[in-house]
Amino acid sequence: MGCYSANMNILAIETSCDETAIAIVETKKDGKKIKFKVLGNEISSQIAIHIPYGGVFPAIAKREHIKNLPLIFERVLKQSKLKIEKIDAIAVTVGPGLEPALWTGIVFAKELNKKYKIPIVPVNHMEGHVFSIFPKKTKNFTVEIKSDMFPMLSLLVSGGHTELVLVKEGMKYKKIGQTRDDAAGEAFDKVARMLGLPYPGGPEVSKLAKEERSGMKRENVVPGSLTEGRLVNRVVRQEPRLCADGNNISSEIPEIVLPRPMIHSKDYDFSFSGLKTSVLYLIRDMKEKNPNILENEKVKQKIAREFEDSVVETLVYKTIKAIKEYKIKTIIIGGGVSANTYLQEVMTKEIKNLVKSDFTSVKIHFPSKQLTGDNALMIAIAGYYQAKNKKFVKRMSSIKAQGNLSL
Ligand code: KG4
Ligand code: ZN
Repeated sequence: MGCYSANMNILAIETSCDETAIAIVETKKDGKKIKFKVLGNEISSQIAIHIPYGGVFPAIAKREHIKNLPLIFERVLKQSKLKIEKIDAIAVTVGPGLEPALWTGIVFAKELNKKYKIPIVPVNHMEGHVFSIFPKKTKNFTVEIKSDMFPMLSLLVSGGHTELVLVKEGMKYKKIGQTRDDAAGEAFDKVARMLGLPYPGGPEVSKLAKEERSGMKRENVVPGSLTEGRLVNRVVRQEPRLCADGNNISSEIPEIVLPRPMIHSKDYDFSFSGLKTSVLYLIRDMKEKNPNILENEKVKQKIAREFEDSVVETLVYKTIKAIKEYKIKTIIIGGGVSANTYLQEVMTKEIKNLVKSDFTSVKIHFPSKQLTGDNALMIAIAGYYQAKNKKFVKRMSSIKAQGNLSL
């Protein structure tokens, strides 16, 4: 059993998906502020290994974590210049995620516990994403949680999750909505595959969408339009439309319109599976008329843009609705999809409009670019608060990978 001290050295381990990440941080309490000194921090991405499979292959993820963990740990320990005995706690992700992958981190933590008697705190990966907004880049940083930041709302969007979580004082979580089928990142990955783009698909689809958008000008969006249930993607075409074989015969590329699933449902749930199927049918129908249609870059850009518009509008619309209903003071966007620049742009703009029209104050936070994806710094912060709340593992046999762990 461990015990909490305001000044601790924490080893954080993250292996929930396809990144093996380890960090060692030193924490120091300074009034209400917690200062984090990053003594060592490494991420080893397996993306290149999973590309041929078009997604993360759990057995391979497990094999890679097992291979990487001791190597990365050695490197991070060396960077930290600490003796292993100086580590006060191990924060390890126990879920949600791929169970075979989660187990590798847990087993590694247990081995260190057995050998060096270092106590363990279990960490929820999604809570990690909530805390991922605090480190700016990957240098030293301060975490200060003030009562005027509550109630908070967190939109967590990744390859496995899409959820809206209400955060009350004391970091008490209540999920108010989630996807009923595919996660937003998963939909990006699947649509990328349909368009012949590599895994992970989010950045690739987003790049195409941006190219399409750059040829167009957004119409002035009426302030608060999203909150009134109108969509933001009304655009004015600035250039002549191209036909499927690249000639200037505008009528040959049909107008692409995709649904905004569940945008007007009364709850805060999402659904992206039907949207993905709409893209599938759209491509199938287009290919019936012209089997080589996807060789036309313009067609791919248009599909990508309409798809990204649909995902972003749905996410932003429901988030704004929740901000109004729960009188949210702070909004935190986290997870891999929070790297999406269009989501950042539209969310920021719509929140600004809301603040202007409702005279409220809502602070919006995105993680810095290096921390949108999975990393160990966010696990270290969540681990600090677990230790502070005395959530140390009592019996080592009780710590388990929990693939579906919820906030
Ligand atoms: O949080 P994360 O790194 O891993 C999970 O826990 O899932 O999220 C990965 C997901 C992938 O589906 C990836 O395609 C998506 O985040 N993603 C993006 C962008 N960058 C990563 N989706 C949309 N736009 C992006 N720029
Ligand atoms: Zn994640």
